[in-house]
Amino acid sequence: MKWELSTFGKNLCEGSGIGELMDDLGEALAGGENMRMLGGGQPAHVPEMDAVWRKRMEEIVAEEGGLEKMLGNYDAPAGSEAFRCALASLFKKEFGWDVTYENFAVTMGGQTAFFFLFNALAGRFPDGRRKKILLPLLPEYIGYANQAVGEDFFEAIPAKIEKQGDHGFKYRVDFDALDPGDEITAICVSRPTNPSGNVLTDGEIERLRGIARERGIPLIIDNAYGAPFPNIIFSEVAPVWDEDMILTLSLSKIGLPGTRTGIVVASKEVCRAVSSMTSIVGLANGNVGQEIMRPLIASGEVLRLSQEVVKPFYEEKSKQAQEWISQYFGEKFPYFVHRSEGALFLWIWFEGLPITTKELYQRLKERCVLIVPGEYFFFGLPEGIDWGHTRECIRMTYTMPPKMVEEAIEIIAEEVEKAFRVQA
Ligand SMILES: Cc1ncc(COP(=O)(O)O)c(C=O)c1O
Repeated sequence: MKWELSTFGKNLCEGSGIGELMDDLGEALAGGENMRMLGGGQPAHVPEMDAVWRKRMEEIVAEEGGLEKMLGNYDAPAGSEAFRCALASLFKKEFGWDVTYENFAVTMGGQTAFFFLFNALAGRFPDGRRKKILLPLLPEYIGYANQAVGEDFFEAIPAKIEKQGDHGFKYRVDFDALDPGDEITAICVSRPTNPSGNVLTDGEIERLRGIARERGIPLIIDNAYGAPFPNIIFSEVAPVWDEDMILTLSLSKIGLPGTRTGIVVASKEVCRAVSSMTSIVGLANGNVGQEIMRPLIASGEVLRLSQEVVKPFYEEKSKQAQEWISQYFGEKFPYFVHRSEGALFLWIWFEGLPITTKELYQRLKERCVLIVPGEYFFFGLPEGIDWGHTRECIRMTYTMPPKMVEEAIEIIAEEVEKAFRVQA
């Protein structure tokens, strides 16, 4: 049967960049085709962390009624009170923030938190006005791009590019271009940024906070890779929050993506709104991630694990991948790697690449290497802007086994060299 689709249906039922990415990831992880999967945001299986999850599951099973409670009970839509209390104590102690459990709302992964927040704040209003989310540093997370249930609602500012050394660069917020008008309803950044691994400096965050406060709109910071957990941040920055901001966290990148657990830290009002959306859309959240993590948060052990296990594991992997890049890319073609300040990716810019990165993606896929073409991360650009940079970058995840990453980098070098050579 062929049904006619609503605007919601058209936006959400007919595929998306993030959908293709997750399909590729699922196929590759299911052992699909011997793929070298450097595409998705799959965290690594860090042996120490896998051991922690196993131990926690054993404890839950051993505890009288522990398993039955976890599997057999619906949770409150805002999340378990014990989990949220543990979070409040941790954030109070660690950062001195004035929070109670009511400043936390659990969601079905960070992705769902964004779907709720963006659609509640932006889109068409009852009086006909149309409001938008401002992304102050483009490229930005592909997973936001298709979340509007109505008309598209992003307005993005292209990042300023600062080249560093022979083969490095860093994005900076272009504050000269950032002047949110009345139609902007929130400012949103991921920090560390997916895809580039950029971490906005404390100075940039303060300026964004100031602009948001002045306009009376929230600053949303997507902390999926940030502090205090999983803390995949390789530069020194201070986490900030107040009631005018909305911070999101996730249990995915510390190693529990399968539990689908996201956390919103916001004013009590915003948390109640998120909880309302959870009950309407899905009744309740999953209990498993909250139950595995609760004692680790209550004892502060999650901070030690993030700082001493997770962060060094990824920092080492990032350095190793960068070494392979200089080894295999050499001086064969122009390339710049974004400064790796956090998250799970390297973001590589092939300046002047004669083919689009969508084409490069296809050629690499034929050679069993999956990356993400950069085009997907440049959404919300003002009409009429043709920015060549959008077709010259790729995102490469470095979390997979070393042999796979090295082989993939060697193949990327061959394909990029070929593309430049044909042009010459
Ligand atoms: C920047 C960013 N935000 C949010 C998410 C959503 O993660 P999850 O829904 O697994 O919490 C991701 C996942 O890759 C991400 O990279």
